[in-house]
Amino acid sequence: MNRPVLQIENARAYYIVENNYVRAIDDISIVIREGEVVGIVGESGSGKTTLSNVMLMNIKRPLSLIDGKVKLYSNGNVIELNKLSREELQKNIWGKETSIIPQSAMNALMPTKKIKDSILDVMKTHFEEIHEKEIIEKVQARFEEVGISKDVIFRYPFELSGGMKQRAVIAIATLLNPRFLIADEPTSALDVSTQKMVLKTIQDLREKEIVKSIAFITHDIATVRQIAETLVVMYAGKIVEISSIEDIIKEPLHPYTRGLLFSVVTPEPEVKKRGIYYIPGTPPNLMYPPPGCRFHPRCEYKLDICDKEEPKLKDVNGRKVACFLY
Ligand SMILES: Nc1ncnc2c1ncn2[C@@H]1O[C@H](COP(=O)(O)OP(=O)(O)O)[C@@H](O)[C@H]1O
Ligand SMILES: [Mg+2]
Repeated sequence: MNRPVLQIENARAYYIVENNYVRAIDDISIVIREGEVVGIVGESGSGKTTLSNVMLMNIKRPLSLIDGKVKLYSNGNVIELNKLSREELQKNIWGKETSIIPQSAMNALMPTKKIKDSILDVMKTHFEEIHEKEIIEKVQARFEEVGISKDVIFRYPFELSGGMKQRAVIAIATLLNPRFLIADEPTSALDVSTQKMVLKTIQDLREKEIVKSIAFITHDIATVRQIAETLVVMYAGKIVEISSIEDIIKEPLHPYTRGLLFSVVTPEPEVKKRGIYYIPGTPPNLMYPPPGCRFHPRCEYKLDICDKEEPKLKDVNGRKVACFLY
């Protein structure tokens, strides 16, 4: 097995609202290894974006890391990101060791600024002193690598297509060759042909070793299947299953994974022939999560124990699943 790049141990990250908690990440452990693309899937509200912020330790109010560790492995050293200040993270970690293509990033480019000026703003957060000409040349080279013209840097966001904007955002996020990249729903707002292009761009980054490991977040298994080897399935702030994509497509173990796979908008061909299915009900309010397994109110396989005890993620034939059926 490859060396770990990032490891989260028993993390709980809650939003503090009106004397209560939204338990968005609740006792999650995960390892991302060198060279690995891990897909993270789950319905909207399952905690994917919160998890990406925990991976970076980009924790700001109302979000709080209640418990757990976030470890970054770097040149034989282990850095506990949860012990660093925001300033230290900004200066030494973000952009250089870990980076993110945030959800809806392409719409976050400043509309009144040329791409070049948005980039210079970002670079000012990473370095005390920046050399404008050097950065522009570097960005232009990276733009050409991701398949957009180097003149794009002198344009305004509204002058670019969705695909161009997204690739510009990818180029900016990976400018300093971070070892670990998080892509949070990078294709969700794009049409199918642009999605393919953006997926290919992200794949190329790893093939060229610009980035070493990727966490690819999406709510769509059909998309993630094209890029990831391992799949992490989230439900209501918990990981319910971790397996290779092939195993999951062949035989989803957790009832929620089964539902997710069968209910995809564009079903996989092998899933399609098994008929369409949807998961009844809706995800719980994470201020008042149900006791026991958080999926039990929607589960057709519910056992007596399921609303009493919380299932732990356990090994089942080399796979991991949190369910009392196994
Ligand atoms: N700023 C916030 N304040 C309070 N609750 C939040 C905030 N952001 C997200 N949440 C809640 O945290 C849970 C997880 O959200 P999120 O991580 O965005 O999920 P996903 O990315 O899977 O859609 C949801 O219940 C959401 O309503
Ligand atoms: Mg999200």
